[in-house]
Amino acid sequence: SSCAAVVTAAGSGTRLGAGIPKALVPLAGRPMLSYAVAGMALAGVTTIVVTAPGDSLWEFEAAVRPEELAAAAATAWPRTHIAWPRTTATAADVQVVAGGASRQASVSAGIAALAEVQPRVILVHDAARPLTPPELITRLAKSVTERTPAVIPGVPVADTLKRVDASGRVAETVDRSVVRAIQTPQAFTAELLSRAHAFGAARTHDETLAATDDAGLVEAMGKPVLVIKGKCTAAKITTAADLRLAEAQLAALR
Ligand code: C5P
Repeated sequence: SSCAAVVTAAGSGTRLGAGIPKALVPLAGRPMLSYAVAGMALAGVTTIVVTAPGDSLWEFEAAVRPEELAAAAATAWPRTHIAWPRTTATAADVQVVAGGASRQASVSAGIAALAEVQPRVILVHDAARPLTPPELITRLAKSVTERTPAVIPGVPVADTLKRVDASGRVAETVDRSVVRAIQTPQAFTAELLSRAHAFGAARTHDETLAATDDAGLVEAMGKPVLVIKGKCTAAKITTAADLRLAEAQLAALR
């Protein structure tokens, strides 16, 4: 098997204010996690590891049952079977494991769970981006080669960007044309991702290594990372307003 994924869902998501783990917050009546995993399966990813809070593995397992994945896929990508005739939302092998104290630790736990599968490519994806189109996932996986072993999706930034100091005073205006807002999935050869996490784990007390994503660890090793065009539908759901926007996107499909 050549392409596997780690879907991170071990965060608490307190900003969404739902009182349940963010990945289980419903979107059009189904957990966000069901969509995130179904999209991976539709893209042809064969093995998917979900990192969940250690005290609620059972609830996360329920959200990735085949019926849940099929229902989420039918809601979010009703016409996808035309583009991907041989994959279905239930074709992947899905496993739920306990995450760690940080996102980085959770991804490491996910990578460890894939050791026996020996995939060539690993995609790391946030469950908080449930409507990421399978087409983008396929494009990322295909872009990973020996020469470009780290490929991530990015979109231009619409707002004016300024760097500020601690008191809120503007230090400088940043040239927005050379900046991208980075999404997930982030795609790597399994070999490079494993090395990047070993590098990160050995430097957990290094504050200059404040990587909020996996590509950040690759960059810290001095290795190149390629940015390809992302999709606005891969946006991260953080607030209740983001959730309403995603609901509206789904409603527009019907
Ligand atoms: O907090 P933030 O939104 O940046 O989290 C990004 C992703 O990392 C989320 O999908 C969240 O569930 C996941 N995460 C995790 N383990 C943690 C913290 C966050 O898997 N300990």
